[in-house]
Amino acid sequence: MDKIVVEGGNRLVGEIPISGAKNAALPLLAAALLPSGASTYHNVPGLEDVVTMGKLLRKLGWAVEAGASRHSITIAPPTNAKKIKLEAPYDLVKTMRASFLVLGPLVARYGKARVSQPGGCAIGARPIDQHLKGLQAMGAKVTLDHGYVEVECKKLRGATIVLDMPTVTGCENLMMAAVLAKGRTVIENAAREPEVEELALVLNKMGAKVSGAGTANITIEGVDDLQPIEHAIMPDRIEAGTFAVAAAMTRGDVLLAGARPEHLEAVIAKLRSAGVQVVAEAGGIRVRGTGELKAVDIVTQPHPGFPTDMQAQFMVLACAAPGQSVIQENIFENRYMHVPELMRMGADITISGRAAIVRGGKQLTGTSVMATDLRASASLVIAGLVAKDKTEVLRVYHLDRGYEAIEKKLRAVGAKIKRGKQ
Ligand code: EPZ
Repeated sequence: MDKIVVEGGNRLVGEIPISGAKNAALPLLAAALLPSGASTYHNVPGLEDVVTMGKLLRKLGWAVEAGASRHSITIAPPTNAKKIKLEAPYDLVKTMRASFLVLGPLVARYGKARVSQPGGCAIGARPIDQHLKGLQAMGAKVTLDHGYVEVECKKLRGATIVLDMPTVTGCENLMMAAVLAKGRTVIENAAREPEVEELALVLNKMGAKVSGAGTANITIEGVDDLQPIEHAIMPDRIEAGTFAVAAAMTRGDVLLAGARPEHLEAVIAKLRSAGVQVVAEAGGIRVRGTGELKAVDIVTQPHPGFPTDMQAQFMVLACAAPGQSVIQENIFENRYMHVPELMRMGADITISGRAAIVRGGKQLTGTSVMATDLRASASLVIAGLVAKDKTEVLRVYHLDRGYEAIEKKLRAVGAKIKRGKQ
């Protein structure tokens, strides 16, 4: 297993290229199951999760080939329909829950699918009841069998679906189910994330009729068929936000190339409240860590609120800001696993229910720390950038799921960081 070794003390100065968004690429790859021809995506991030989704599409019978450029991928349906397998196996779904996103497209196009229940993960139980409730509302028969979800419906029909909470992949699964259904589907209390808007954009490029994406009410008029497309994937706002925190903490000056400010409004507002300079430029977002960092309170919410995927990174920022910051994690029930690791680096953090109280301003010191989930791992790397001496982050396979070549990108702007074997 790999580890990452970081030596603290260097400012980050220069330009970091932001990769395509993981949480857009995964639903978009699943959406490629819908059209009758080969679709091509550009600006695909080089991530383990994308590799896993590619393996799943191949398992279903689709051809998945690297395109002309390094970050392009072409997905083509099997020439012989007999080669299609409508089953997503446990071994793939358990490594990456977003595999569950093939359910909607398969039922929409082929009338049935058998997908392993994703099960929980480090940050929470991650139920899928909303995905299934929506499919049942569209007329599907849903059976749970030996850890698998079996969904059948000759032809889905449009329905009004009121989600109990704005689930991102739940919304995405149901959008992909609805595009080929008979009639109109309305998803109320829909997720408003930019990645949901990106999926609607691509579905409409395929010939679907999706409106309202980005608002709490999405309407889909079913169509008979969809055409293959070519599309460049939006930049990863969470990768950009992660590097923004790193630049701020090291008192650096970094251009996040390709990042879009409109995707990060809540994060930018909090960075500015913390005393960080953030300026939109033609090439992206420039972040300067100039003066003293100020303590800020964070409450994670569905978009456009502060994203849960930036909570761990902001906790590290809070550790550097003199005073008390209160962080409230409202989305997932177990997303504080970075806390004990940060405390081993000298952080002063108290967990009380869903809140984490951070007393910042103390110098962190390097040590060996354990990555537990994707964003927690990123927060430990950021902590290592400012900690005294060396920090070893173990089990970095968590990091590789969601950050492309993180050590190369950070080293290119001055970080003392390298990858090694544990
Ligand atoms: C997506 O996960 C993202 N993953 C997550 O990013 C992100 O943290 C999350 O949305 C919230 O923004 C992808 O897009 C691939 P949810 P998702 O369904 O869709 C509850 C990362 O680090 N819920 O919006 O699985 C659920 O328990 C990852 O990149 C139900 O109760 O999250 C949670 O409390 C981590 N029933 C809340 O909703 C359901 O059927 C939000 O979960 C579905 C969800």
